[in-house]
Amino acid sequence: MRLNEKVAIVTGAGSGIGKHIAKSYAREGAKVCVSDIILETARATAQEIRDAGGVASAERMDVTDEREVNQVTDKVAAEWGGIDILVSNAGIQHLDTIADVSFENWKRVLAVHLDGGFLTSKASLRHMIDHKRGGSIIFTGSVHSYYASEQKGPYCVAKHGLVGLCRALAKEGAHHGIRANTICPALVRTPLIEKQLPVLAAQRGVSEEQLVHDLFLRFTVDNEYTTVAELAEVAVFLASFPTNALTGQSICVAHGMHML
Ligand SMILES: NC(=O)c1ccc[n+]([C@@H]2O[C@H](COP(=O)([O-])OP(=O)(O)OC[C@H]3O[C@@H](n4cnc5c(N)ncnc54)[C@H](O)[C@@H]3O)[C@@H](O)[C@H]2O)c1
Repeated sequence: MRLNEKVAIVTGAGSGIGKHIAKSYAREGAKVCVSDIILETARATAQEIRDAGGVASAERMDVTDEREVNQVTDKVAAEWGGIDILVSNAGIQHLDTIADVSFENWKRVLAVHLDGGFLTSKASLRHMIDHKRGGSIIFTGSVHSYYASEQKGPYCVAKHGLVGLCRALAKEGAHHGIRANTICPALVRTPLIEKQLPVLAAQRGVSEEQLVHDLFLRFTVDNEYTTVAELAEVAVFLASFPTNALTGQSICVAHGMHML
């Protein structure tokens, strides 16, 4: 068990990538707070973990709400004696060109990723520093942390920004044995992507299969989606890595779609 007795908070863990990371952490022995803006989905993930013999709690936490973030983080630290791992994963997408996107939607996307990344790290950092046993903060970035796609301007800006936040945290956290890293997935078949498929296919006048082939997987080395299992494995590796040798990094888990 690579995360025995560790305490982890995973945001956006009611679905997709976060859900699988939460389940993998529990399998590796961590106590996991499954948090999501949708409490029912968080509860369902936590129940799956408990049914499999793991330890999990479920909390509603909107990562853009400072009060809620602090309340949940403090509660987890009080109940389980600290925080060792934060996976700041909650995310949304909004498709629009920069010429068309409303200021409201621009701010909404930046808020979930950047305010969310900041607020959840700040809340966990306080406990990691106080408890003096180090920690690991992991952001879910994207291949869009490094390059751009049309109609994803706010998302690209937010994901690029997370890399900066991660690097700054790695410098400051090092004094306390706290590491920060970013996982940058390519396309993973989760609800976030499923919602985009019909919209983009209709806009381009092609089938969803054609869109996947021509746009989504075109620049991978093997025409394959990245899987939640592949990402969860990297998230376990990063969380369990023992030294500061691996900090401030972003790792593209992307079937070669982007190479750093
Ligand atoms: N799916 C992909 O292809 C892909 C690729 C690269 C990066 N990512 C990133 O991975 C992360 C997870 O995405 P996913 O694909 O699993 O999508 P998903 O839609 O399956 O899961 C996202 C989760 O975040 C939650 N969420 C949304 N807003 C929130 C908020 N304000 N506070 C708390 N929770 C909130 C949702 O309720 C949902 O459960 C996101 O940061 C996303 O940008 C996804």
